[in-house]
Amino acid sequence: MTAVVQAEGLTKYYGKRRGLEDLDLEIQPGEVFGYLGPNGAGKTTTNRLLLDVIRPTRGHVRILGADSREPHVRARIGYLPGELTLEGREKARDYLAFLAKARGGIPASRIDALAERLDADLSVPIRKLSKGNKQKVGLIQAFMHEPEFLILDEPTSGLDPLVQQEFLAMVREVRTSGRTVLMSSHVLAEVEHVSDRVGIVRDGRLVAVENVSALREKAVRRVELHFDAPVPRSAFEGLPGVRDLWVEGAALRCTIDGRPDALIKAAARFTVVHLVSAEPDLEEIFLTYYSGGEERHAGVQNPA
Ligand SMILES: Nc1ncnc2c1ncn2[C@@H]1O[C@H](COP(=O)(O)OP(=O)(O)OP(=O)(O)O)[C@@H](O)[C@H]1O
Ligand SMILES: [Mg+2]
Repeated sequence: MTAVVQAEGLTKYYGKRRGLEDLDLEIQPGEVFGYLGPNGAGKTTTNRLLLDVIRPTRGHVRILGADSREPHVRARIGYLPGELTLEGREKARDYLAFLAKARGGIPASRIDALAERLDADLSVPIRKLSKGNKQKVGLIQAFMHEPEFLILDEPTSGLDPLVQQEFLAMVREVRTSGRTVLMSSHVLAEVEHVSDRVGIVRDGRLVAVENVSALREKAVRRVELHFDAPVPRSAFEGLPGVRDLWVEGAALRCTIDGRPDALIKAAARFTVVHLVSAEPDLEEIFLTYYSGGEERHAGVQNPA
């Protein structure tokens, strides 16, 4: 199977300014890859290099097994730029119809269906659209030709929560149909529910690539249990993965590092009447990368 992205030593300097350094990355068909990093980390630079909007200082990249400069490759990619500038006087619908024609014809019904899903009003002149509505037009043009590979630079920026949910559903559908997505964001929470893997870029370097399901297994989660009668603290002390244990009467609270299995088995000896387990906070793990903490190369550059 040909990789959708195959980057080797991909590097971009803007004069002396580092944009991206030595990026090695492979993304496989059908994968959703979340590309995370703080402001100025190199996300947009990476996207532009993949699209050949800018040329690398050194290194190279192949997209869908070919050079992304070739027009037939570019036509198979959908792109939402990070700095979307839409200033036209024409109505959003006419702008999209123009792009549709330039891309060899796309049924108007497909554009309308996307507009309806994202709740976009296409009857307004482009330059009069609000920021969020411009973003919707940007998303429609990225999705409308059903490209094999979508490069989305901060796609959720400016979208309200309901529209964000709809957008994430669109990303899931792309994956289900075997197509591929690279999407960047500042916040893991925005991408973790749709991404198979996430990469963290910081100061121009990809410092970690992780499988989201593996991350979730490693994540710390808070658990609270209530029993029908007081339980002895000793029954839960020293269990593997159990930390910050607090037992008072019939209530127990702790954090779980990794699998909750040992705790569940210990609790099963008593009668559990109520259980609360919060979603693991993956953000917490990732903040160590952001803050310049321990560098880690997870060794899962390629999905198994
Ligand atoms: N056209 C340019 N000329 C000079 N330096 C640039 C240019 N574009 C980006 N840079 C620099 O390259 C580095 C990476 O920028 P990039 O735009 O790729 O970051 P980003 O991760 O997309 O950030 P943000 O989250 O703010 O969008 C930054 O230090 C930035 O100042
Ligand atoms: Mg950017």
